[in-house]
Amino acid sequence: MNKVALVTGGARGIGFGIALSLAKVGCDLAIGDIREDKQVTTAMEQLRATGREVLFCQVDIADLHAHKIMLDEIKNRFGRLNVLVNNAGIAPRERKDILEASEESFDKLISVNLKGPYFLTQSVANWIIEQKQATEEFASCIVNITSISSTTASTSRGDYCLSKAALSMSTRLWAVRLSEHDIPVYEIRPGIIQTDMTSGVKEKYDKLIAEGLLLQKRWGLPEDVGRAVAMLARGDLPYSTGQAIMVDGGFSIERL
Ligand code: NAI
Repeated sequence: MNKVALVTGGARGIGFGIALSLAKVGCDLAIGDIREDKQVTTAMEQLRATGREVLFCQVDIADLHAHKIMLDEIKNRFGRLNVLVNNAGIAPRERKDILEASEESFDKLISVNLKGPYFLTQSVANWIIEQKQATEEFASCIVNITSISSTTASTSRGDYCLSKAALSMSTRLWAVRLSEHDIPVYEIRPGIIQTDMTSGVKEKYDKLIAEGLLLQKRWGLPEDVGRAVAMLARGDLPYSTGQAIMVDGGFSIERL
């Protein structure tokens, strides 16, 4: 489809699954991730093996000055950007009851999970508007990776839930603001996905899944999220801007 996509946190886990799915449907990739070049060599090789162009930019998404450097690198390499996937995100270092959790953890999660993607969207949106003014049919979209934690209260990680709930509102805000420019903004809410982030709570979720927590009795995989993002990047959900798409194995279906 000949689009260029920026995936933040694309060096492993869900972001890597998204990048791989986007490469398979014909996107060239910019991967923005906090990890160093040498830590991501294998992942970048796997992405390049699809035959697509891949640019790696080391970036801390919470550092707004670093956004400009990353976007300049993308401009120099590809000259354009069609798709932004705000995927980079962190869980609290320790799960702590909200009666005890620290201000430091709160500030960190808000700056990585919310402030970073919110302002990256602002910069990318302005660039996409310019590109659309130059070429009317320039196709684009923006996707936020939030979580079932946007609406599910977990008192052992209140800061995470708050950061994701606010990122969900960011989807709606940008969908409204960018509608006049015909730039759809979507959100994907993954459920329980097998990555490094969830490796420390594997036994807990294995048990809950076996007991019937989900309608589809398995862990989600990065590819499940990746395929949903590829659908959006291809333009296959054209009349649904602002919507949250659940990729949660039926977690959110209320039952009695
Ligand atoms: P992960 O920890 O396996 O991978 C996250 C990636 O983001 C890593 O490559 C990491 O280096 C990068 N990253 C972390 N902080 C960064 C920063 N400040 N700047 C740039 N890159 C940074 O996590 P996972 O599980 O792949 O999660 C990806 C996204 O999906 C996160 O936003 C997470 O909140 C969300 N999510 C994860 C779920 C899960 O069950 N694993 C469920 C729902 C949402």
